[in-house]
Amino acid sequence: MSGRPDWLRTLVRAAYHAPPAGFWRSVDGLRRDLASLPARLRDPSRRADPWETIHHVGGDYRVTGRESLRFIQTYGELRPDDRVLDIGCGNGRVTWPLAEALGSNGRYIGFDVSAGAIRYCLRRIGPVRPDFTFHHLDIRNGIYNPRGRIGESETRFPCADGSITLAFATSVFTHLPWPTVVHYLAEVRRVLAPGGRALITAFVLTPEVRVWASQGLTKVPLKPYGDAMTSDPHWPENAMAYDEARFQSAIAGAGLTLEAVLAGLWRPEPTYPGGQDLLVLRG
Ligand SMILES: C[S@@+](CC[C@H](N)C(=O)[O-])C[C@H]1O[C@@H](n2cnc3c(N)ncnc32)[C@H](O)[C@@H]1O
Repeated sequence: MSGRPDWLRTLVRAAYHAPPAGFWRSVDGLRRDLASLPARLRDPSRRADPWETIHHVGGDYRVTGRESLRFIQTYGELRPDDRVLDIGCGNGRVTWPLAEALGSNGRYIGFDVSAGAIRYCLRRIGPVRPDFTFHHLDIRNGIYNPRGRIGESETRFPCADGSITLAFATSVFTHLPWPTVVHYLAEVRRVLAPGGRALITAFVLTPEVRVWASQGLTKVPLKPYGDAMTSDPHWPENAMAYDEARFQSAIAGAGLTLEAVLAGLWRPEPTYPGGQDLLVLRG
């Protein structure tokens, strides 16, 4: 790009940003769908996997789901009788392996802003685990549901106070503006039973990570965006990163305890094998 004249760079950028939010996410989903086609055709158990063109959650659906479950078991100490809340459950990538790990005395509630993703969960996972519940909340998100009717900061999680023993959000807080992060942490606190656990994946900035990002050493390329960083200032919710100090004070402000921040593979010097960083919280 650096060799191109300014007018050409502006034109390319304008063309990239001309389609509606979410367009390039779907294009990337289409690329993944085509790549996974041979595996789907070979393996009948994969034929019902959701199409990423329709609701793109990234990664390999099966591999990422199982990997997320391992982290929920290791760092969230998942028990078969847990009452679990899956914040932004998408098309059930993590729900499938959870359906095997949670016993009949466990409970699962998932919610998402995408009606299509929740329809998939109801149609495919519902018959396997009729005790699992899925909710579509028409929450506005710049990338995933730009025309939603509910403001993100007005969202009420679909569960009663103190009713959840383990809440988690995988690859959701990376798509939230800061006021929503603060509000969602308060909601996590509200729904968690005393001593309940919460796991949240995020891109967490430290002074060192900011330097690595500015040198292009992070796997997710980030640019400054106000106090935060994003992969694309035009569509910031594509991937948002916030300072660790900010997370710490918001978590404490919500009345939660931050037990650990684990560094993911997206940045140099990871401390656990997950893609994004992991915040381990307790109510
Ligand atoms: C990258 S996907 C991850 C989905 C799922 N957690 C997983 O790991 O497969 C991000 C998800 O967050 C959902 N989402 C976006 N904004 C949200 C919000 N404000 N509240 C709840 N979910 C949201 C999207 O619809 C999408 O399903």
